[in-house]
Amino acid sequence: MIELLNLPSEAPYKKLETLYHQALKHNQRGVEAISISSYDSLSGEVESRFVNLKYIQGNEWIFFSNYSSPKASQFASHDQISVLIHWPALNTQIRLKAKIQKTSPEFSDLHFKNRSKEKNALAISSAQSQPVTSFDAVKERFQSTLASMTSDQERPEYWGGYSFTPYYFEFWEGHENRLNKRQVFSIQEGSWIAQLLQP
Ligand SMILES: Cc1cc2nc3c(=O)[nH]c(=O)nc-3n(C[C@H](O)[C@H](O)[C@H](O)COP(=O)(O)O)c2cc1C
Repeated sequence: MIELLNLPSEAPYKKLETLYHQALKHNQRGVEAISISSYDSLSGEVESRFVNLKYIQGNEWIFFSNYSSPKASQFASHDQISVLIHWPALNTQIRLKAKIQKTSPEFSDLHFKNRSKEKNALAISSAQSQPVTSFDAVKERFQSTLASMTSDQERPEYWGGYSFTPYYFEFWEGHENRLNKRQVFSIQEGSWIAQLLQP
């Protein structure tokens, strides 16, 4: 589930809200899974991965991750990302371009406080994307972290939220005979402009 909070009243957000509620009605699994592509300026490569989108608050789309991970250094060096959402239950793709930044420490603290102890133990114990000798070593680190955690455990500074704000939306709706509808919204001089693209 994604928490929608104070969404803007502009057209792309109206459309997004309608589609999201339709996706829930159609029991779309993994409705919160979004793919994020980022640019690694050191290697010159683009990388993608799924994350779970937790909130859309105003025009800020928020997920949580490790601040020392490969994606974190990519966001720090190049703050423009490409995002994909696929809701097969609706035969719909949503494609975004956005700028990304860290959320405030206070926002990350609040989210951390409200998560399960197990999820937080994993966030604390994992040096995300670093090599490890065995999966048993991962489990041992998790278990010993879990055992050592206090009831008011603090969020580690290497874990927290990311917020991105789209400046481009494309809604792709699949129809029969590949007569697919593609509706784009982009910001021009501060206002959202709608356009249709050929399939
Ligand atoms: C459906 C799905 C949801 C995921 N959600 C998250 C998430 O919210 N945060 C996160 O750090 N990794 C999440 N992951 C794992 C990432 O895809 C990725 O493996 C990890 O963040 C390391 O990425 P990086 O090496 O590019 O930094 C998720 C994976 C899947 C398949």
